[in-house]
Amino acid sequence: MSAPVSGARGFGHGKVILVGEHAVVHGHAAVATGISTGVAVEARPGNGRLRVPGWGLEARAADGTPVGRALAAIVQRLEAPSLDFEGDARIPSRAGLGSSAAMAVAIARAAAAASGRIVPREAIDAAVHAAEEVFHGTPSGIDAAAATSGRTGRFSRAGGWQPIPVLQPITICVGLSGRPRDTAAQVAAVARLRDRLAVAGDVLALLGRLADDAAGALAKGDVDGLGRIFDAAHGLLSALRLSSPELDGLVHAARAAGAIGAKLTGAGGGGAVIALAPAHERDVLARWKAAGFEGFLTEIAATPRGEAAS
Ligand code: MEV
Repeated sequence: MSAPVSGARGFGHGKVILVGEHAVVHGHAAVATGISTGVAVEARPGNGRLRVPGWGLEARAADGTPVGRALAAIVQRLEAPSLDFEGDARIPSRAGLGSSAAMAVAIARAAAAASGRIVPREAIDAAVHAAEEVFHGTPSGIDAAAATSGRTGRFSRAGGWQPIPVLQPITICVGLSGRPRDTAAQVAAVARLRDRLAVAGDVLALLGRLADDAAGALAKGDVDGLGRIFDAAHGLLSALRLSSPELDGLVHAARAAGAIGAKLTGAGGGGAVIALAPAHERDVLARWKAAGFEGFLTEIAATPRGEAAS
């Protein structure tokens, strides 16, 4: 490669899965939003070092840790071994908000920008996928798609990421359980449950149907309908044993503060919940804080006029 460009930057969006986590691993649909908050990375000439002070993270491409192996996967595929990376993370890690994909996208984009070459989008996607495999085993790809696009989309293994129209912006409350989630372990637990309990496959299919219903509600601006879908999805995810006392506590606290729907988001077991609470968003955050949980607000952006959403 040519001499690396100093100070090259890349950004990856955090993500919120609105409906369809786990269903998407089994071939069904999910709907996710790339949120405006994410991870920014700057690349400088160096030798494969990564620092993300916000997460207390330091790794080297050759150090054999999961982060080091993910970094090595990216720099090998993008032929960028002589760079160091400094990350500014604005989302928590291991909370189900797509932090690893956001970081991988940001590193890959920064490495591509530093190379001074035009790097095809497919090469960046392949590098991000390789990094996600290190963290999550066989990821569906939904986190990477949301981290790259920053929009709302319907994702399935067969159809990939397809932007879906969103009629109006919708504010989402995100509550953090404070417990890290382990995506690979949760995905494996659902696979085991499906082997032992045939109806678990039907529950996953229902979650996929709810994801399509959610896409319909977003297109119509039907926030009440979306709230009901959130509640139904949380019940189905609980049936798959993906909730926890903290996640249930956050969901019930949100409903008590006026939310019209709430559910866990991402792999479950720990991580985060999302709640829809029009005009009561601050009440939800206050109720969570009183119960000892951090939270923040983010937005599902409306599809800009003229932007293709098909
Ligand atoms: C994790 O954010 C979402 C899961 O559906 C796993 C995946 O799609 O790879 C649980």
